Amino acid sequence: MSKSGTFKSSIGRKIAMALSALFLMIFLIQHLTINITATFSPETFNELSHFMGTNPVVQFIAQPILIFAVVFHFVMGFILEAKNRQARPINYKKNNGAANSSWMSRNMIYSGLVILAFLVLHFIDFWLPEMNYKYIAMNPEDPTRYYEELLHKFHSPIRVGAYVLAFVLLALHLLHGFGSAFQSLGQNNKYIDGLKKFGVIYSILIPLGFIVTAVVLYMNAQ
Ligand code: HEM
Repeated sequence: MSKSGTFKSSIGRKIAMALSALFLMIFLIQHLTINITATFSPETFNELSHFMGTNPVVQFIAQPILIFAVVFHFVMGFILEAKNRQARPINYKKNNGAANSSWMSRNMIYSGLVILAFLVLHFIDFWLPEMNYKYIAMNPEDPTRYYEELLHKFHSPIRVGAYVLAFVLLALHLLHGFGSAFQSLGQNNKYIDGLKKFGVIYSILIPLGFIVTAVVLYMNAQ
């Protein structure tokens, strides 16, 4: 491939990565908004979960799009990492990386892998039992079941500890990812400083919200 072809496709990959990241960031706001209601109003959590779990648009359109975005983001992340390593094999071995890039930017792949491990556990905890409950065992819908099911999963301190660890890594992943997503999408505009500030606040507040949710649910489950 010509130099300009490589350049174009690598920019293309970065833009695709950034767009999938922005989509997942919006999903995280929605997910946290629903989860956090479980800490102060189990009834609201049940109502919202019942809606999300039974609405056909959510189930058969939004959910497949979300799962595609999650898989796409991970696969693209691995491809970008592999290409970066290919492009600079000597730099990585010989250079002191801290001189040109932050610790977190060099370790996006590792924080990403911890989040991937969390998602596997998370899907085993919630998504698979839910799919089994609804579409395989064909149980009748009980709109009040969600909060109790949720609490049950937050009984174990080991699981809650693993969740909290993953949320801390999520914060680190987002802190670097936000800046890098805007860089890939072009940052020559007057909003860039505001967006960067928003990125830092988002990257701390969203994982913190998940941590608070997990800890409160753990306390309520004892
Ligand atoms: C305390 C924190 C969290 C709690 C209590 C929680 C709880 C849940 C619950 C109850 C579901 C519903 C499963 C279903 O009905 O299909 C779910 C799904 C999901 N969660 Fe979480 N979650 C938390 C954090 C996170 C984080 C940080 C991420 C992403 C990094 C995440 C990603 C997902 C995904 C991708 C799904 C599948 C959505 C779907 O298609 O149904 N969750 N979570």
